[in-house]
Amino acid sequence: MKGKILVTGGTGYIGSHTVVELQESGYEVVIVDNLSNSRADVVDYIGQITGTRPAFEQADCRDLDALDEIFARHGQIDAIIHFAASKAVGESVQKPLLYYRNNIVSLLNLLELMPRYGVKGIVFSSSCTVYGQPDVLPVTEAAPIKKAESPYGNTKQINEEIIQDTVRSGTPISAVLLRYFNPIGAHPSALIGELPNGVPMNLVPFITQTAIGIRPQLSVFGDDYGTPDGSCIRDYINVVDLAKAHVFAISRMLEGKQAEQVEVFNIGTGRGLSVLELIHAFEAATGVKLNYRIAPRRAGDIEQVWADPRKANDVLGWKATTGIEDTLRSAWNWQLKLRERGIQ
Ligand code: NAD
Ligand code: WQD
Repeated sequence: MKGKILVTGGTGYIGSHTVVELQESGYEVVIVDNLSNSRADVVDYIGQITGTRPAFEQADCRDLDALDEIFARHGQIDAIIHFAASKAVGESVQKPLLYYRNNIVSLLNLLELMPRYGVKGIVFSSSCTVYGQPDVLPVTEAAPIKKAESPYGNTKQINEEIIQDTVRSGTPISAVLLRYFNPIGAHPSALIGELPNGVPMNLVPFITQTAIGIRPQLSVFGDDYGTPDGSCIRDYINVVDLAKAHVFAISRMLEGKQAEQVEVFNIGTGRGLSVLELIHAFEAATGVKLNYRIAPRRAGDIEQVWADPRKANDVLGWKATTGIEDTLRSAWNWQLKLRERGIQ
């Protein structure tokens, strides 16, 4: 075994794919998840993909005593990957205290326990949302942090600062902040993927649900932006590629290769795609025609953002490799699998 990694939010969308990649790279995993936005059977599916069922603790990261007991029981944990958070931007505007409590208290608890249990480092799920609408594209890690548009976005900024301040105070831990762009797709086995709660807010689950007939029509939010085809541009990153970035971050951390105690990396492809381009790529990849219409802009949307991933490529040694059509096919196969399982 290369080391034992505690993965909070490990039954969630990105967490489950990361647990698979960690196990396939020889790490032992302990998942902590309260199942507030995921299902317990994900642990079985991870077992089916990798041949190893990870340890699973149903617990809430807001509960310091519960976490303390888990650390005490599992012996030496080498590092943490912290995915557990509430992530719905719109809901965070309606319920800011829920978001601040969940996303901030969970991190505080982990940071408090890490030195007590000799945990060396933490990889944190941050987001390109910290850049807002960047002045320069593609956006690098050196770009200024813009005022957050939502309580959710603000929790990411505050959490980054909490980690920086904790390390600066002399706490003997290191950290890697991964700023994800737009994660999409599912594991090629179609055994794990994204489980949207209710009506999806994110584009790709809305596309696959429309394609399968759960939603009658997809709305393209705006075609009058200052982009070549008028629709918004994002950097869509395959979730398995994204999961692999965490394995690179963990090995860099545990091998003591970090240049600074807190390192920040953009995790994206470096390629921006418009909403309309993504729709056409989905149709080309799956042969399924999408019923869509142009709708008004969605409040709070950024016009265009895509990553400069060169730091992750050169320093972390990670690169996104999966093409958009393969990624969209994986999202479609996952949607078909959900129907087969009678879930959605
Ligand atoms: P997800 O909701 O699928 O996974 C989060 C998991 O954390 C869920 O399984 C949920 O049950 C669990 N969880 C939430 N609060 C918890 C708590 N207090 N204690 C224990 N478990 C808890 O979300 P995801 O898309 O996999 O996102 C993972 C992380 O990546 C989040 O921090 C999210 O903010 C961040 N992120 C996501 C995206 C994206 O578009 N999906 C983009 C950038 C950053
Ligand atoms: C992508 C594009 C929409 C739905 C959000 C969060 C961000 C990050 C990732 C966590 C946009 C358009 C969407 C639809 C559409 N999460 N769209 N019709 O807004 O880039 O980012 O998820 O950190 O913080 O804000 O992702 O998938 O919602 O939208 O036209 O039905 O698709 O306008 O241009 P977004 P998204």
